[in-house]
Amino acid sequence: MIEGEKVRLRPVEREDLPRYVRWFSDPEVRRHLSVYLPFSLAQEERWYEGLQERLRRNEAVVLAIETSEGIHIGNIGLHGINWKDRSAELGIVIGEKEYWGQGYGTDAIRTLLRVAFEGMNLHRIYLRVDADNVRGIRCYEKCGFHREGTLRDAVFREGRYYDQLLMSILRPESQALRGGDGGDD
Ligand SMILES: CC(C)(COP(=O)(O)OP(=O)(O)OC[C@H]1O[C@@H](n2cnc3c(N)ncnc32)[C@H](O)[C@@H]1OP(=O)(O)O)[C@@H](O)C(=O)NCCC(=O)NCCS
Repeated sequence: MIEGEKVRLRPVEREDLPRYVRWFSDPEVRRHLSVYLPFSLAQEERWYEGLQERLRRNEAVVLAIETSEGIHIGNIGLHGINWKDRSAELGIVIGEKEYWGQGYGTDAIRTLLRVAFEGMNLHRIYLRVDADNVRGIRCYEKCGFHREGTLRDAVFREGRYYDQLLMSILRPESQALRGGDGGDD
């Protein structure tokens, strides 16, 4: 269990999968994710099996986000971990919509950044976010992510193309925000 201020992060369990089926059956939850169709339980089970292999190879970190009361509200992860360049891509979903906009995403990201930079010795965490995902962008900026550029017409949904923003945070920036000295890199 990794403790944040409002959330704690724990490993994903097979018992969580029916909850993912429910979350991703909602178009509003899927809207800004690469998931564009609902998933069956069988698909979630295949994803879970594949995840075990990615975890075993140290290619990814995927954790469940719980409130401090123990309610599982979402997932957060680092994908495509590159151990030479010390970078990884962050992905997050709060699947329980009634928890949106209350600071849970921000706390989950800050907590995972601490793990990424202090625990895993990564240097750069980046993400892609739809340019119209105002809540997501605000959340990432609060966590210290910088806008790096625009990926034009990067996603197609609802009958048209949307831009995505590329955002990132480097380890010294994250440490400076937490009051550290920025380390040696
Ligand atoms: C994106 C997501 C992870 C953010 O987590 P969250 O817990 O909702 O975010 P937070 O409450 O920590 O921060 C959101 C900020 O945006 C603000 N916000 C929310 N809706 C907003 C809107 N429509 N316009 C402007 N700001 C908005 C909130 O007020 C808050 O800022 P504040 O603390 O300055 O008031 C979560 O909403 C989510 O999972 N959404 C669906 C899936 C998704 O978009 N995933 C990310 C794909 S890149």
